[in-house]
Amino acid sequence: MRGARGLHILLGLALAPAPAAAGPELADVLSDRGLPGFVKVDMLPVPAEPLLVQGRAIWGGLCQNCHGGNKATGAPKITATRAWAARIAQGMPVLVDHAINGFTGPKYTEMPARGGNPDLTDAEVAAAVAFMVWASGGADAALAFAETQTPTE
Ligand code: HEC
Repeated sequence: MRGARGLHILLGLALAPAPAAAGPELADVLSDRGLPGFVKVDMLPVPAEPLLVQGRAIWGGLCQNCHGGNKATGAPKITATRAWAARIAQGMPVLVDHAINGFTGPKYTEMPARGGNPDLTDAEVAAAVAFMVWASGGADAALAFAETQTPTE
């Protein structure tokens, strides 16, 4: 029995994919309502795609303030697939446009242009959008978008 279990563990180790980066997996953080409580960037997985890694850092520096789950703002919470599905269905170009130029939703909640930081470049805002989409149920759309972008750094 002990030997069998040992073998099982060994096989498991041999077959397990090498950990790409520390932190949770994408599947662990996604759900209808998203992670409980206020979501900080450290609670989110690190993507393999460089553009999304850049977007993750930008997201943590600004977008998190509202999109981490600040209910007072009405911002859709990252990891909450229900809040994001219809938005993601609009396509990346619309989402990026709304994030760069600002957007007021049907309930008069406001997405400020560039999240309120005019120093962010279009590419930086787009990277942050792509990361948020990736971490909110839109991994396919985010990865397809990342392929169309030329890395800036
Ligand atoms: C001050 C709060 C605030 C900050 C900071 C903020 N957002 Fe938003 N964002 C919102 C709100 C509120 C909405 C929802 C607007 C609506 O649909 O009613 C939103 C919506 C969005 C949407 C969805 C747009 C759509 O068409 O559905 C995207 C994409 C987005 N934000 C990206 C970002 C990115 C990227 C950042 C960081 C650079 C950011 N936001 C920072 C408040 C914020």
